[in-house]
Amino acid sequence: MLLRDRFGRVIEYLRISVTERCNMCCVYCVAPENRGYEPREHLLTFEEIAEIVRVLARHGLRRVRITGGEPLVRPHVPELVRLLAQIPGITDISLSTNGILLPRYADALKRNGLKRVNISLDTLQPQKFHRVSPAGQWEEVWAGIQTALAVGLKPVKINCVLMKGINDDEVVDFARLTLEYPLHVRFIELMPIGNIGFYRRGHLFPIGEAKARCAQLGELIPVTEGEAVGGGPASVFRLPGAQGTLGFIGACTANFCHRCNRMRLSSDGLLYPCLGHGVHVDMKPALKLSPDQREQAIMEGIEQALLSKPEGHQFVTLAPHPTFRTMRVIGG
Ligand code: 5AD
Repeated sequence: MLLRDRFGRVIEYLRISVTERCNMCCVYCVAPENRGYEPREHLLTFEEIAEIVRVLARHGLRRVRITGGEPLVRPHVPELVRLLAQIPGITDISLSTNGILLPRYADALKRNGLKRVNISLDTLQPQKFHRVSPAGQWEEVWAGIQTALAVGLKPVKINCVLMKGINDDEVVDFARLTLEYPLHVRFIELMPIGNIGFYRRGHLFPIGEAKARCAQLGELIPVTEGEAVGGGPASVFRLPGAQGTLGFIGACTANFCHRCNRMRLSSDGLLYPCLGHGVHVDMKPALKLSPDQREQAIMEGIEQALLSKPEGHQFVTLAPHPTFRTMRVIGG
């Protein structure tokens, strides 16, 4: 049986948040007044995570992404990669990270079965970095990116959240990065999630404008196949002669909910069928059952989440509500 929802969408991808904690505090994620926020941490064990993935994989799950918070602040993430890599059916394991801890972990992650990585980087100007991410240094992230390339993680994608008045002047510089390095830049439209106050101050930069700016550098050749495309929401292009690709993700102005293929597991065991909606199923009770009852109960939880997967996100109606924890909790 495939994991098919009420709208005919087939789920083959799970994003797994392993912690709400983070060693950065990016402006779109955490409001200054919430910087001291202490996350709840009733973490699922790696074995519990693997157990849920095993059941999902029997029903068509193919890909998993480890995320957070910052996943690498949780100790022993390479161990989780090793566990997930052994699960029959799982063909793709990836990681979303801010890159700071990659110099320490990239080698072990790769050795244990990590294929590829997405690294958040919102500016190419080291002196601007603190405006976006007041903790951390640009140079640390850049070192993380270089390490990812050096150990052979492939593809290395750069997640760049576009913010009007902050980094929209750097779109072309980011596009040029793909000429120079085998880096795959993903421009992400700001979403009303995380630090809603920041969003409300008018920082949305429409993804179509980013694409138009990139087109000033040369023809944008559509890329429809290969490692850089994956199964994600980005529309992907390559500049003539470029080593990397450019992807455009516009959750608000170019909605892609109709081809959503994913669910999300929070670090404390809640299965969320949608990033832009609060509905979820608590998987912890199922995990506490005896081994002979567990699989059936996990499957029931998954079916419940599938049945409640909304047709689309509610970013517009969510916007008035403070949901600063959502991205960290649900997993980026
Ligand atoms: N809008 C858009 N993207 C966001 N991310 C985090 N918060 C937001 C937001 N409010 C991005 C991070 C990371 C990815 C997983 O999600 O920068 O790269």
